[in-house]
Amino acid sequence: MKKIGVLFGMENTFPSALVDKINSMEIDGIRAEFVELGGVKMAESCGYSVIVDRISHDVPFYRAYLKNAALTGTQVINNPFWWSADDKFFNYALASKLGVAVPRTVLLPHKQYPPQTTSRSLRNLEYPLDWEGIFEYVKFPAFLKPHDGGGWRDVFHVHNPDEFFAAYDQTRDLCMTLQAAVNFKEYFRCYVVGQSEVRIMPYDPRRPHEQRYVLDPPKYDKKLLKRVEQDAITLCRALGYDLNTVEFAVEDGIPYAIDFMNPAPDADLHSVGEASFQWIVNAVAKLAVKKAKSSGSLHPDMNWAAFLSGAGEKKAKQKTTIKVPAKTKTASKPKPTKATKAKSA
Ligand SMILES: Nc1ncnc2c1ncn2[C@@H]1O[C@H](COP(=O)(O)OP(=O)(O)O)[C@@H](O)[C@H]1O
Ligand SMILES: [Mg+2]
Repeated sequence: MKKIGVLFGMENTFPSALVDKINSMEIDGIRAEFVELGGVKMAESCGYSVIVDRISHDVPFYRAYLKNAALTGTQVINNPFWWSADDKFFNYALASKLGVAVPRTVLLPHKQYPPQTTSRSLRNLEYPLDWEGIFEYVKFPAFLKPHDGGGWRDVFHVHNPDEFFAAYDQTRDLCMTLQAAVNFKEYFRCYVVGQSEVRIMPYDPRRPHEQRYVLDPPKYDKKLLKRVEQDAITLCRALGYDLNTVEFAVEDGIPYAIDFMNPAPDADLHSVGEASFQWIVNAVAKLAVKKAKSSGSLHPDMNWAAFLSGAGEKKAKQKTTIKVPAKTKTASKPKPTKATKAKSA
């Protein structure tokens, strides 16, 4: 019997729906359940062919358990090695290299010394910083936000240097980015599953939290949706995430990718709505089952680079065909336009 485990935190609706969905598929030799774990013995199999990880970003013990599990042949959604290595500033730089429109972004030194450091630890930093040069490059209005954050924590909308410094003073020892604000008309949050299935969810971040997913959206330009879909796939393939949400803020018809490191994206019935909830449950169930079917043939190379890139999974992929809808097969690079050039780094 191959087991698919779900590892989760405070969320209530998605984990049980996923387990029920997989079990209702009644696939011979495959069963789903909530992961149960205690003390973890090194290099011992955890007993799961696949684990869907929804919480290890908040629990270092779980992250370490998942790396050990990957070593012993478990396929983890998402790859815990790459997730540990990734950050949002790298993501923006990668998007820019891939030709995906992204707002101009600068990485900033910590406002306060990180723990156990003093000015002596930071002698490589120029002082004072060239704030004028930074502001000239990014331009106001802008967003000051963590290089590795989530849930809108420590995100500041700033309109001038005074507001920027007042916000920066509150950022403690976080590593922050300053990013040009997109004056968006449309905003999309896209689920991307298995690096091929995309669900574009209109989203209005200006509304109160519980009303942000727009359930009665207007008609959008087809070309815009197509580009959003292609860019979302391009980013998730480059990053190697099997489950992610990619957020685009659209200004003058250009979708700027502003948040695409969400490997445990919100999938709660009460926020995403019934239709998106069913979509995500079905898509992740299918992906987990596909991975479970291909498991057992995996022999990860015993080196860091192989784990980082999910090399074990690559072997599995050679044996299975990933179904990509014909229209999304080639994620072509959008040609830079005037507006892209203006915003992208
Ligand atoms: N460059 C930007 N332009 C316009 N709005 C932004 C920008 N960056 C962030 N925001 C706003 O702030 C919100 C939170 O920022 P985001 O980058 O998505 O971080 P988080 O991971 O915390 O969700 C976004 O949903 C959006 O409303
Ligand atoms: Mg976000």
